[in-house]
Amino acid sequence: MTAERFLVTGALGCIGAWTLRQLVREGVPVVAFDLGTNPRRLEQIMTPGELAGVTFAAGDITDLDGLDRALGDHAITNVIHLAALQVPFCRADPPLGARVNVVGTVNVFEAVKRRGEGMAPVVYTGSIGMFSPGDVDPATNRLREDAEPHPGNHYGVYKHANEGTARIYFADSGVPSVGLRPMTVYGAGRDQGMTSSPTVAIAAAILGQPFRIAFGGSTLFQYAEDVARTLIAASRSEPAGARVFNLGGSPVSIGDWIAAIEELVPGSAGLMTHEPAPLPFPADIEHDRLAELGPIPVTPYRDAIAATAEIFNRLAAAGKLVGAEQGVPAPTPAQAPA
Ligand SMILES: NC(=O)c1ccc[n+]([C@@H]2O[C@H](COP(=O)([O-])OP(=O)(O)OC[C@H]3O[C@@H](n4cnc5c(N)ncnc54)[C@H](O)[C@@H]3O)[C@@H](O)[C@H]2O)c1
Repeated sequence: MTAERFLVTGALGCIGAWTLRQLVREGVPVVAFDLGTNPRRLEQIMTPGELAGVTFAAGDITDLDGLDRALGDHAITNVIHLAALQVPFCRADPPLGARVNVVGTVNVFEAVKRRGEGMAPVVYTGSIGMFSPGDVDPATNRLREDAEPHPGNHYGVYKHANEGTARIYFADSGVPSVGLRPMTVYGAGRDQGMTSSPTVAIAAAILGQPFRIAFGGSTLFQYAEDVARTLIAASRSEPAGARVFNLGGSPVSIGDWIAAIEELVPGSAGLMTHEPAPLPFPADIEHDRLAELGPIPVTPYRDAIAATAEIFNRLAAAGKLVGAEQGVPAPTPAQAPA
């Protein structure tokens, strides 16, 4: 059996950082492929010794030849593809969003196809964001695993296209894949994107700043560490076509989320509020088929909020919890300490 060598695209992002950490802790060689160069999310959750175990390969997912070279130069066997622009960035620049999210994903499949035999299934993140509230089963109000998507934004259209790309790369070229669809990922490093504000609220609470979460209702929360472990399990699964799974997690109302932070972060009571409107995506999501990938971890959300608060407290004690880096808006003059 060939020894595993992973390449993670979008490795400097939130989920990427947790994926690198898990692989380094397992002692598996891993290459971080990202357009960015700022390792701050990695530094928040990894020791300098762990960081030294990562090989960095700066690159742009829209450049097929560069990606191809990275796979070849590092003799990669497993690819986890996370590089993407999130909802607000696709909305701000749809052509760029399509190049990164759609063409970038085609490039990943093409580069893996060129490497030929011996590659693990391509693992990539789809998104529940490709569904609209009307896509739920009217009888149960749940999103079925086989629901037909009607995306409500560019990002969702691109994520839907990627599942088609995966299907055709298997049908035409036999490239196997596993797509995982998260909903609301949280944990250290989740500082940007439409569903980031529940995590930003934890940082704001520790900074002692008032903060308004951008939505209400309930959503399905996934802890970034659990997502990372699930992606790695998917990468190690037997090739079986172009499979796609909804991710499980913790269904929590935003009111309960705020109550949990208030309980876990002393002095934060009353600082957090939320917009009333729920996210424009289904909240109740079927995910039973995920068990096909083996045991899937789901950290209880209070434990994961506590773990996140611990990371932020450690950063704050070192003078490294910077509001602007965590997505916390600068305090207004009325909120600033006198
Ligand atoms: N966070 C969530 O709640 C959530 C939910 C559903 C799906 N997803 C998907 O999971 C993946 C990772 O999400 P995240 O929260 O870690 O995102 P993130 O925004 O934190 O990280 C994305 C990373 O991709 C990199 N990137 C952007 N353009 C690139 C390019 N052209 N070439 C190489 N790298 C590039 C960025 O530099 C960044 O480091 C994305 O595909 C996202 O759409 C996330």
